[in-house]
Amino acid sequence: MKKGLFITFEGADGCGKTTQSKLVQKYLEEKGYTVIWTREPGSAGLGQKIRELLLHYEGDVAPMCEAFLFLADRAQHIEHIIKPAVKEGKIVICDRHTDSTIAYQGYGRGEDIPQLKSLNNLATGGLKPDLTFVFDVSTEVAQKRVGSEKDRMEAEGIEFHKKVRNGYLEIARQEPDRVKVINADNDIETVFEDTKKILDTILNK
Ligand code: TYD
Repeated sequence: MKKGLFITFEGADGCGKTTQSKLVQKYLEEKGYTVIWTREPGSAGLGQKIRELLLHYEGDVAPMCEAFLFLADRAQHIEHIIKPAVKEGKIVICDRHTDSTIAYQGYGRGEDIPQLKSLNNLATGGLKPDLTFVFDVSTEVAQKRVGSEKDRMEAEGIEFHKKVRNGYLEIARQEPDRVKVINADNDIETVFEDTKKILDTILNK
């Protein structure tokens, strides 16, 4: 069924991936591509309610409850937004997707990674990103960028965020063809130049 291109933007909180994903959207649109920018959690209608629960619920949340909520949001998102757009030949830019679950709930919270991978597969119906950027930033820099107004995930301690960062690097080591790591300690322009270089190689294939 595949016709378009599915690109995901990943990284720890404060890595700057949202800024980069919007720059990439503009860059691709200027080249004449039809691009859809979307994000997880919370792009599809019901997903916005799930996002609210995930990021702002104040009581205790069991780790697998958290995982299933992200996965539920993903199932809705894939079916209603991502799959139709890819089918129509569009480029889908998605700010966070399956690798966030592996990095945060797997490496961060310590839930079973092979199990999370098969749940991801169930939620997406097997549709995988063609390309994934991981914006890698030192945890200290990232924490400064996040600032003091934190949501439920951002409020986790520094040890959690270090595990998430290392988790992303491990994902990239395991899938080097799909996952490209960008040094996001640099300034916005340098990071964008590095991102564009990889993107251009993929587009020219
Ligand atoms: P968001 O405000 O979208 O953060 P960001 O701008 O950094 O993307 O919040 C999403 C939060 O949810 C972020 O801390 C990462 C976390 N998350 C998971 O833990 N697992 C997931 O599967 C997804 C998609 C996000």
